[in-house]
Amino acid sequence: MNLGIIGCGAIGTDVAEAADTIKEIKKIYLFDINKNASRKLNKRLKKTEIKTVEEFLPNVDVVFEGASQKAVREYAEKILNSGKELIMMSVGSLFDEKFRMKLDKIAREKKCKIYVPSGAICGIDGILSANIGGLNEVTLVTTKPPSSIGKSCNKRSVLFKGNARDAVKKYPKNINVAASLSLAGKGFDETKVEIVADPMVTRIGHKILANGKFGRLRVELENMPNPNNPGSSYMASLSAIATLKRIIDPIQIGV
Ligand SMILES: NC(=O)c1ccc[n+]([C@@H]2O[C@H](COP(=O)([O-])OP(=O)(O)OC[C@H]3O[C@@H](n4cnc5c(N)ncnc54)[C@H](O)[C@@H]3O)[C@@H](O)[C@H]2O)c1
Repeated sequence: MNLGIIGCGAIGTDVAEAADTIKEIKKIYLFDINKNASRKLNKRLKKTEIKTVEEFLPNVDVVFEGASQKAVREYAEKILNSGKELIMMSVGSLFDEKFRMKLDKIAREKKCKIYVPSGAICGIDGILSANIGGLNEVTLVTTKPPSSIGKSCNKRSVLFKGNARDAVKKYPKNINVAASLSLAGKGFDETKVEIVADPMVTRIGHKILANGKFGRLRVELENMPNPNNPGSSYMASLSAIATLKRIIDPIQIGV
């Protein structure tokens, strides 16, 4: 299998490093608008080569996006139209219903998949299953160190309280988890989100509370920041790598 990577930042770097050690992956193509980022990574790894998306597309089976919502809008259709699988980290881009339906249609026609890793949260499997029976309520409470969200405050402050659609619009880089949770469960309008900045915390906290016909779910996690980007949870990288392995592995665990 050959892999294309768009975005060689914190998550893209972790994915490329892991992919370099996976025997089923023969070749890894790197692309970043910041040429230094792809060059730095390319120097260290064995299977990599730098190419533009248009150049690498005919030669890959899977494309990993770890760049930005803008990159998704720029490349997703192209990737799917060429019949290639897409792993998408900047999932906030899917809050645009028209865009999501368009990608869904192309993927169906071309018989390829769009993989959205659980990212920085856990419990997506439970929400997916619970949604089949019917969910009454899903709430996400995200607590971040103020610096990781570009704020400074000296006491715990609620920055946002509302639905996932508005949360993703207001914090496009910081609350991708609200997007994945919405897509797995009650959608962008009915998923409740609270974003808290707390100067006392050093880890990024996510709490998911849900109830429905299945019963009640409560997931709480404290994420270590990614050493290469304090705004990104290390768990997001691990989830991306696990998704890549899931595409390769014959036995599919979970959901
Ligand atoms: N789903 C989740 O749970 C989750 C968690 C963390 C981050 N994310 C998202 O994943 C993406 C990557 O996160 P990160 O922490 O690695 O960010 P990062 O800032 O460390 O790296 C992003 C890299 O992408 C490059 N880039 C940006 N726009 C590009 C474009 N149009 N084409 C090519 N390269 C481009 C940048 O130059 C940078 O090197 C972000 O959009 C982030 O919001 C999702």
